[in-house]
Amino acid sequence: MKNVILVVDDDKTNLSLAQRILGPQYRIAACNSGAAALTYLETHRPDLILLDINMPEMNGFEVMQKLRSNIQTELIPVIFLTADNLAETEIKCFQLGAMDFVTKPFVPDILLSRVSKTIELDQYRHHLEEMVNTQAQKITEDAMRLGRIQDSVIIGMANLIESRDGSTGKHVKNTQTYVGMIANELLSRGYFKDELTSSYIEDLCKAAPLHDVGKIKIPDAILQKPGKLTTEEFETMKLHTTHSRKIIQTIIGDIEDEHYVRLVEDIALYHHERWDGTGYPAGLTEDNIPLSARIMAVADVFDALYEERCYKPPVRPIERIMQIMSEGRGTQFDPVIIDVFVDMLPQLKNMLEK
Ligand SMILES: [Fe+2]
Repeated sequence: MKNVILVVDDDKTNLSLAQRILGPQYRIAACNSGAAALTYLETHRPDLILLDINMPEMNGFEVMQKLRSNIQTELIPVIFLTADNLAETEIKCFQLGAMDFVTKPFVPDILLSRVSKTIELDQYRHHLEEMVNTQAQKITEDAMRLGRIQDSVIIGMANLIESRDGSTGKHVKNTQTYVGMIANELLSRGYFKDELTSSYIEDLCKAAPLHDVGKIKIPDAILQKPGKLTTEEFETMKLHTTHSRKIIQTIIGDIEDEHYVRLVEDIALYHHERWDGTGYPAGLTEDNIPLSARIMAVADVFDALYEERCYKPPVRPIERIMQIMSEGRGTQFDPVIIDVFVDMLPQLKNMLEK
């Protein structure tokens, strides 16, 4: 298919000359004013524009400025047509983004050669742009695929660790779901707006499965003990938070995303802190406990009560769990988070009792 060239010139002789010279190789569209050219370009996309500089009403430079400020036309290559040989005219042509310029009267071979080279160059540019876009898309797809693999490895590893204490194996996925639901509900009600950005919530959900990885260093005898832990055993159990942070630092510490690494560390280290400062390992109080860990604490306790464990049956109905957890309002849990969570009872029931 022939390339299309738009020739814009108020001189009919020049238009017919261009048609005679270029017509055998190209399809020619002709406009005798800048305004007519701009109207034509609203519905057409030629491969090249030959644009006369000296035209009444709107000269070629003005047309060119309009072309370059319009996303539809900014990339169409333009060759200026000029009757003079002045250096400043030439400089202005290139400053405005012209690919080339041709002096009038036309010398057929020169016009043909400039036109074919400009079209060829533009086709290379277009081809290169497509290659870059394809590569960029491939890189994005590869990164997403790697991200999915990473996520499933993390969940798999966390599940493996979790399965040691005789839980149902759903804890990792469940707490991840609850954490996301709570964060989104808080955001929709206007709480913690500065912190709860969409990327924060995404990171929070990715981080949640790693909150208990430190349990890998807790002996089976303690993890799987059916009854109540002794004081000494409980002290050992409490260490899973600091173990978690150390493991996280080892496995993801070199990830360049500092924000994400910090979030995972906070969740792992502080998810057993309590609002009143009686939690562990640091005894942090209220807002000093990172928001991520305050949300995780609610999700973690809810799931612990809802699911069966080797040392306890599941608590039912869900209303009873909410009642138990409400008693920890302002002592164990952030009052805002627990209030919002209790309000989420209908959606939790809907999800869990299907
Ligand atoms: Fe824990």
